[in-house]
Amino acid sequence: MSASRPEVENRSACASKAANNSVAGAAPQGAFDKESSARAIQEMFTSIAPRYDLLNHLLSFSVDRLWWWRAARHFAHILSRPDARVIDLCCGTGDMAFALLRRAGNSGATILGADFSHAMLQRAGQKSAGTCLCWVEADALSLPFADEQFDLVTAAFGFRNLADYDAGLREIVRILRPEGECGILDFGEPRGAIGELYRFYFKQVLPRVGTMISGVRGPYAYLPASVQRFPQPAEMLERMRRAGFKQASWTPYTFGIAGLYWGKK
Ligand SMILES: C[S@@+](CC[C@H](N)C(=O)[O-])C[C@H]1O[C@@H](n2cnc3c(N)ncnc32)[C@H](O)[C@@H]1O
Repeated sequence: MSASRPEVENRSACASKAANNSVAGAAPQGAFDKESSARAIQEMFTSIAPRYDLLNHLLSFSVDRLWWWRAARHFAHILSRPDARVIDLCCGTGDMAFALLRRAGNSGATILGADFSHAMLQRAGQKSAGTCLCWVEADALSLPFADEQFDLVTAAFGFRNLADYDAGLREIVRILRPEGECGILDFGEPRGAIGELYRFYFKQVLPRVGTMISGVRGPYAYLPASVQRFPQPAEMLERMRRAGFKQASWTPYTFGIAGLYWGKK
């Protein structure tokens, strides 16, 4: 047991060093600064909006539904409160927000979704007719809300696309009430034999099928690259603490193919 300790300490020292020294964020091909990254990401998602849901379910073999459900279940204690105010950032066509709404049932919790792609929000709006979900067109790095407005902030598979992760975390902390919680669901990089298999699928198969069905070159090659760039759990947790979360943890889903970052302000 004592032999593994220094390694753990070394790893967390590395994470801490990385979190201190670098500005990390999405960097799609051709982007050269934060503004051009954000613009490229916005255009990318707008271009695949018409086929986004179909491709999502197809390429994940519908496991994405299980991940949204599990993430929503994690916050049942907040969603059951009638006065709870909840926002799902980078909501896309709304599936995480729908999972939150299903978990909330008739509790009366207010649930919003926000995204900066108008085309994605249009589809969310079509899907949510007859529900009490509301959609806001907004940049997750500069949200149109006053401080301390929300009890829960979630983001599913969208946070990784932000041009500045630390700025994104600070913005989440800003809009959370004291003791508020955050859930960031995103892809990870599984290890071992499962990891090898998964990497082959993710890097070789998924980009080809995604490009073929969406008819758009680029986004589905960007996906594995963006996951590779995204901080490892230890570093991400360090960034969350530095942004102002008093507690932070990571729960792997499906061998670590995805995982939920949880934080409490
Ligand atoms: C991979 S999709 C995820 C959509 C949805 N949350 C889901 O689980 O299917 C990523 C979404 O993040 C949005 N996004 C990326 N950067 C954003 C930003 N800075 N502000 C708001 N939305 C952003 C994109 O427009 C896109 O709709």
